Amino acid sequence: MIHKYVYGTPFETEAVVVPMEAASGAPAYGTVCLEHGFTFTCSLAEGDVVYGLGEANRGINKRGYCYISNCTDDPEHTEEKRSLYGAHNFVILSGEHTFGIFVDYPSRLTFDIGYTRMDTMTISCENADLYLYVIEGETPYKIVKQFRKIIGRSYIPPKFAFGFGQSRWGYRTKEDYREVAEGYRSNHIPMDMIYMDIDYMQDYKDFTVNEENFPDFPAFVKEMKDQNIRLIPIIDAGVKVEEGYKVYEEGIKNGYFCKREDGSEFVAAVWPGDTHFPDVLNPEARKWFGDQYKFLIDQGIEGFWNDMNEPAIFYTPEGVQEAAKAVKAFLADPNGDVPFFEGKDAVLELSNSKKDYEAFYHQTGKGRIRHDKVHNLFGCNMTRAAGEAFERIDSDKRFLMFSRSSYIGMHRYGGIWMGDNRSWWSHILLNLKMLPSLNMCGFLYTGADLGGFGADATRDLLLRWMALGVFTPLMRNHSAMGTRDQECFRFEGVEDFRHIVEVRYRLLPYLYSEYMKAALSDDMYIRPLAFVYPEDTHAVQVEDQLIVGNEIMIAPVYTQNADGRYVYLPEEMKFVKFLPNGTLYEEVLPAGHHYVKIALNEVPLFIRRGTCIPLAAPAEYADALDTAHMTLAGYPDCEYVLYEDDGIHKDYENPSNYRTLRS
Ligand code: GLC
Repeated sequence: MIHKYVYGTPFETEAVVVPMEAASGAPAYGTVCLEHGFTFTCSLAEGDVVYGLGEANRGINKRGYCYISNCTDDPEHTEEKRSLYGAHNFVILSGEHTFGIFVDYPSRLTFDIGYTRMDTMTISCENADLYLYVIEGETPYKIVKQFRKIIGRSYIPPKFAFGFGQSRWGYRTKEDYREVAEGYRSNHIPMDMIYMDIDYMQDYKDFTVNEENFPDFPAFVKEMKDQNIRLIPIIDAGVKVEEGYKVYEEGIKNGYFCKREDGSEFVAAVWPGDTHFPDVLNPEARKWFGDQYKFLIDQGIEGFWNDMNEPAIFYTPEGVQEAAKAVKAFLADPNGDVPFFEGKDAVLELSNSKKDYEAFYHQTGKGRIRHDKVHNLFGCNMTRAAGEAFERIDSDKRFLMFSRSSYIGMHRYGGIWMGDNRSWWSHILLNLKMLPSLNMCGFLYTGADLGGFGADATRDLLLRWMALGVFTPLMRNHSAMGTRDQECFRFEGVEDFRHIVEVRYRLLPYLYSEYMKAALSDDMYIRPLAFVYPEDTHAVQVEDQLIVGNEIMIAPVYTQNADGRYVYLPEEMKFVKFLPNGTLYEEVLPAGHHYVKIALNEVPLFIRRGTCIPLAAPAEYADALDTAHMTLAGYPDCEYVLYEDDGIHKDYENPSNYRTLRS
């Protein structure tokens, strides 16, 4: 049962797609106060657990911290951070009272979950213009399912997007890409995609290709495709200010960029230097921006990643003026009243500043609105622009699309990656914990930069992280310029990397099948143990094991130098390790606690009692998988219903997509 409450005049975010009558009166389970903006307060009993918030810091149980929905380009995902790239305003309280809350509000929103007071959850924001949805259900899992029914079907990528992808910020020339392709193919490490970061563009201009490095781009796309490798270019939010650049000129001519209050063009510096932001909240401008993707699609491109769309701002001319003033004041009188810190802070605060987000406007279907009031919708609508354009360009075909910034609703148009993490062991665990929370909010196609984006990866870290990445729909190794080379073939003992990626491909038919079943029934592809074993008070506590699909549990190793880990089994399961020689180690383990040994070059998983999963023979790319001849691992005399389609088109409802396999 879902109750919808309306406060003030909400902005239509279009997160919810099912029309619903608004309820009268006050919501149950908490009190609403409209005195200073909006506040929803409810009590937390001892032992209550709070789930949700999608891409957010800390644990699967969100209790005990304060989180702020405020899409932010912040590459330092340290524990104290309150905001990351996405805004996913859905929480579920489980315990004495069990209910879900979705606050459909596109600006800054605070979730104080037992932080100020241990026994209180407070959700608050500045303006009381929002929709509040209160969702009742017996269990958190049932609440998620109801919520997912009202926000629409999750994005479905093409099947090749379940292959492995290599990425790095710094590939410039054809030779760079050829080296990566050759590195994988000659070492027989499977791969389906190489991602193109900003250097493929001409001077970081969206929808251009550097002519000198790629004189015949379609021929190069084909050269890669002939090796069964798809090139996936990045698209950034900011459009470079440059006379003669078509996208810039069209945008100016038609008034498609965000403007200052006085109607002049708003300038923000990002990678290309000065840019304008396409006004993706203006339906006409959104359509225009989406149509630009055709430039690359016409050259053979089948997927994209949308970046810098919080939108990230390095600085604005106005901000620089102010910072310069503060620095000058310090220099003029270093020992005087103007402290060093004022100058320093003014420079540090140049990026992503609140003031800048208050300085530009969107021309929405319902009039003009200041950016900060709808800040959390920018990335969502940039990706929607692309998703809607794909429908117009080729409505039968699936395109790969994922974004950095997002809001609930965007899950219908694309996935997300988890942004600029670091080569830290703690980030493997952060990655793991975000997965079920994202699934609750509809973001099924997701994954982190395997090996870590910032800082130098070590061989063991990459192997362990990839062994988790085997199970995330997006499996991509990505790293920042200036960090240690991180492609699998750069490390010693390449066969270990080959083995881990091969396991991904062996499991791909299962992972794809489970993803599709989840997407098509508004379900979760990855769940916390608590959702599967709600009666097991111990399972509820487990935050470093996950259920993937219906049949398997995963328990990755995320500690350096560990030769295994402790694992909790809520029921008897078959412990399976994919050994480097291609065989399986199998052992039935009873319910309870176990220490399981897992070497760096092994991939572990646990098959739930009475189930089995299909395994294909390894292949070097997704299309080469032979799904007609698969074996079944797990328990004998069981059935598995496999979903399989051509992976390209959208014939999802065809009953022939399902077939039963027997062990
Ligand atoms: C941002 C992205 C990162 C990318 C870089 C350069 O930091 O998050 O993935 O490599 O920009 O485009």
